[in-house]
Amino acid sequence: MWKQLLTWWQQTIYDRPYKPGRQIGAYRIEKVLGLGSYGIAYLARREGEQELFVLKQVRPSLRRTPKGEEMQAYERNVLEKLSHPQIPRCLDAFTYRNDSFLVMTYIAGPTLEDILFEEQIHLDEYTAARYMRKLGEIVAYLHDHGIIHRDVRIPNVIWKDEQPYLIDFGLARRLGDAPTYTVEDVSVYPPEKQLKREVAPASDLYALGHFFLFLLYSSYTAADDAVERSWEEELSLTPAIRNMIRSLLQIDPGYASVQEWLADLDAYLQHSSVHA
Ligand SMILES: Nc1ncnc2c1ncn2[C@@H]1O[C@H](COP(=O)(O)OP(=O)(O)O)[C@@H](O)[C@H]1O
Ligand SMILES: [Mg+2]
Repeated sequence: MWKQLLTWWQQTIYDRPYKPGRQIGAYRIEKVLGLGSYGIAYLARREGEQELFVLKQVRPSLRRTPKGEEMQAYERNVLEKLSHPQIPRCLDAFTYRNDSFLVMTYIAGPTLEDILFEEQIHLDEYTAARYMRKLGEIVAYLHDHGIIHRDVRIPNVIWKDEQPYLIDFGLARRLGDAPTYTVEDVSVYPPEKQLKREVAPASDLYALGHFFLFLLYSSYTAADDAVERSWEEELSLTPAIRNMIRSLLQIDPGYASVQEWLADLDAYLQHSSVHA
């Protein structure tokens, strides 16, 4: 009971976000963008300026744990090594009172989660494949720079001007580093978490498989019988895409790299545009 109370206290009182209008160093909070498991994200601007920034704060309850400042410093270090128009840039880091903040460029647009669940768009297979091609290029860029993102999910992709932007490098790792500060090896995790958290291209490929399914499910209407079926039964996919997703999810032998998957995706896109 005490432990539950303590958790409740930490999450509701201790981790309460700063309110809009509050001045944090040189920045003024406009609104809270999100309260994640490790941090709090805000939209902010400097006094008298128009440009918007994102501030990411370590949750106060995690401050002195391995999920706190060290993790934020790692995220900063990863972002500072990258320079890509579809990835936020880390501009600065500072502490205000006892809180640590990262300052990042703001990408104005809805996440794919917002689009799929709130705008109720329906993507056909070919369109979904074209979206995946664009997202895959960003992930290929990361892998070329020795970074595995490990959190490629629809709430971490912003859609703006017909292009995806990949955000949230909170779980990203450099190839060769251990999966976390406390865990040396993913074999202690349950099987699905091993697939997601391995510091290797396979974990992002696995996440891309799920991402693809989320896009394809936007066109799915559940049958009345409410019987749960597998994605292969529920979605009517061409064999090329079904096999591709089976490889991404490692049901069949997986792809060795994102480039290898993109070559497969290009072959599908070329073939389908001829037949469209
Ligand atoms: N650079 C950015 N530009 C625009 N919105 C962002 C940016 N970074 C974060 N956000 C918003 O804040 C939310 C939380 O930030 P995120 O980096 O995903 O952290 P976490 O999921 O760990 O809380 C995102 O889902 C997104 O809505
Ligand atoms: Mg996120």
